[in-house]
Amino acid sequence: MLSQEKNERLTRVGRGTPMGELLRRYWHPVAPVLEIRDRRVMPVRLLGQDLVLFAAQDGRFGLIARQCPHRGADLSYGWVDGSLLRCPYHGWAFDVRGRCGGQPFEEVAGHAGFRDRATVDGYPTASLGGLVWVYLGPEPAPLLPDFEPFSWTQGFVEISITELPCNWFQCHENGVDPVHFEWLHGNWTAVQQDPQTIRRAAEHISVEFDEFEFGFVCGRQIGPGGAGVRPLNASNTVAEGGMLCMWPYTLMTGATVEWRVPIDDCSTLNITRQYSTLPDDIRGPVQDLEAVPYWHGPLTDPSTGRILTGNTLNQDFAAWVGQGVVADRTREHLGRTDSGLTRLRHRFLQEMGRVADGADPAGTVRDQARNQRIALPIYRKSRYTGGITREAYEGLLAWHRSSPFAVDGYPAIQAGRPAHVIGQYEMATRG
Ligand code: FES
Ligand SMILES: [Fe+2]
Repeated sequence: MLSQEKNERLTRVGRGTPMGELLRRYWHPVAPVLEIRDRRVMPVRLLGQDLVLFAAQDGRFGLIARQCPHRGADLSYGWVDGSLLRCPYHGWAFDVRGRCGGQPFEEVAGHAGFRDRATVDGYPTASLGGLVWVYLGPEPAPLLPDFEPFSWTQGFVEISITELPCNWFQCHENGVDPVHFEWLHGNWTAVQQDPQTIRRAAEHISVEFDEFEFGFVCGRQIGPGGAGVRPLNASNTVAEGGMLCMWPYTLMTGATVEWRVPIDDCSTLNITRQYSTLPDDIRGPVQDLEAVPYWHGPLTDPSTGRILTGNTLNQDFAAWVGQGVVADRTREHLGRTDSGLTRLRHRFLQEMGRVADGADPAGTVRDQARNQRIALPIYRKSRYTGGITREAYEGLLAWHRSSPFAVDGYPAIQAGRPAHVIGQYEMATRG
C-alpha cells in the first residue's frame, strides 16, 4: 500500500513532475520505422506533450511540437516538402529540429526577417531495432542503448502496437510479477479453453529478484505439477539470467521486448517487438532489421465491447486496464507475490531523487565504445541466437495450431496478427 502522494509521484509524467523529469532522461520508442515511412507525418503524444513526427525526404526523422508558431494550426495535418514539414494553414515550414525554413507570404511581402523567432521545439530522433526513438530531455542526450536482441538474426521480427486507456506504471509493474504467468496466462487460458478445468499450469514455489545495471532479473522456482499439468515456464535462478524488467518501462524476455510508453497520465502505448525463432537450417538475416513489419492490434472485441482475452498480451491488457485508469495503490494489499514491485517502486523513487540532484539515472549509457550489442542476462539466450531444430519447430507449430486461440492456425502472442505478416513469417520459415 502506498500513500496517495507517492502514487502520484510514481504515475504522473508531465513536464516538471518528478517522474516526468526522470523519464525525460531516457530515449522513447514512438513508432515503427516502416509506419512513419508509410505515413510520412503522424501525430505523437508522449509524456503529455503533443508532438508531430515526420520522415523528411533526406531520410531523417523530425520530432517537433504539434502547434504551428504562426497561429497554432495542427502540424500533424501538414505535409513533407523536401527536408521540411509544411503547415497546411499558410504554408510555413519547419526542419527536423523545429527551425523555420519558410514563410511563403512573408517572403513575398519582403518580411522574412522574423523567421528566426518563428521556431517550434524540436527533439533528437534515432532509429534502432525497427523503431523510431526520440529524446525529450536536457541535452546532451545520453546514447540510445544498443541491446543485443536488436542484432539477433535467427528469428522473424515484427512489431505490434496497441493503445491502452490506463497509466503506464501499472503496466510496467507486470515486469517484476512472475506469478501472473501461472494464473493470467496459464490457468485463465486453460479455463477459457475448457471451463470445467479449474487449474492446469504448474505452480510457482518461490520468486527472487536481482538488480543489474539496466533493471531487474526475475527468477522463479516452479513445482513439478501433476498429471495433466503443463509446465508453462521453466524454473530459473537469477544467476542463470531470466525475464528482465528494465529501465524505464521495458519487459525483455528474449522472445519479446515490450515497451509501455507513457502517452500521458491516463494512457499508454504498448509496443511489442516479437522475435519468433526460426529453424536452425535457415540462415539469417531473413529481414532488413531496420524495416521490420508492424501492425496495430485491437484492444476490444467489437461484438461485445469487452477486452480480448485469448492471447497472452491481451490477457495482460485486460489485467492492467482493469486496475483502473491510474491504479489506486492506497487500497491494495501486497503480499510475497509483490516483493519485486515493492523494490521497483522504491528504486524509482530513489532515481527521481538522483535526477533532481543533477545525476544521470540508472540504465543511462554515455560510453560510445561500450554501446554496441550490449549483452543482457537473458535466460537461455542460445535458443534465440542459434535457432531451434526443424523437428522442434514443427512440433511447436503443431502444438500452437491445436490451440483454439491460434490466429489462422498460427501462434500469435497478441490478437489481430494480419495476413500479410503471417505470410512474411511463413516465407521466412521456408528460407
Ligand atoms: S498557422 Fe501554420 S502557417 Fe499559419
Ligand atoms: Fe503477462
